[in-house]
Amino acid sequence: MKIRPATTADSLRISELLIQSWGSHIAVAHGVAYDATTLPAIVAEEGDRIIGLLTYNLEDQELEVVTIDAPVPHLGVGTALLEAAAETAKAAGARRLWLITTNDNVDALRFYQRRGMRIVEIRPGAVDESRKLKPTIPLTGAYGIPLHDELVLELRLD
Ligand SMILES: CC(C)(COP(=O)(O)OP(=O)(O)OC[C@H]1O[C@@H](n2cnc3c(N)ncnc32)[C@H](O)[C@@H]1OP(=O)(O)O)[C@@H](O)C(=O)NCCC(=O)NCCS
Repeated sequence: MKIRPATTADSLRISELLIQSWGSHIAVAHGVAYDATTLPAIVAEEGDRIIGLLTYNLEDQELEVVTIDAPVPHLGVGTALLEAAAETAKAAGARRLWLITTNDNVDALRFYQRRGMRIVEIRPGAVDESRKLKPTIPLTGAYGIPLHDELVLELRLD
């Protein structure tokens, strides 16, 4: 597996992967709608296949992971992408990597906490607000859990 920054040559495959994973390349969190195809990205590649994608927004000495996807889980792809994002953040002088996940995503919560991230905020009802911007956000998430809340996780880099 090779981890590298995405280039414009990856645009189509990135867009396809985002649609496959999320049904859209618009990611809505904390009241902001990002077109993830316009964000800087890190890809995991095997041969000529993209097997993982992380998009991010670097702002105010913080790196926000906007999307992270490993369509085939448990191969180490997510860990490699997160480590590469932390390196990117450090190289840019960022003090913090952070992201938002949702109350239903208990698999991701496990994954992030096992990688040193801490839950620093819970925002009850934030997904219900995001649904007003993106009505395709389902009412029910993973494991049949009603989807309502955002959780903010961070990794301190200093
Ligand atoms: C969350 C997500 C990005 C994690 O990525 P991943 O590639 O499955 O993560 P990894 O494979 O690096 O690690 C997951 C587990 O697999 C294990 N693993 C890694 N390589 C492995 C291998 N070759 N064989 C068996 N297990 C392995 C890891 O040790 C880890 O277990 P641990 O947490 O007990 O240490 C991925 O599951 C995903 O895309 N989920 C759907 C989208 C999503 O929810 N994104 C997050 C939105 S906030």
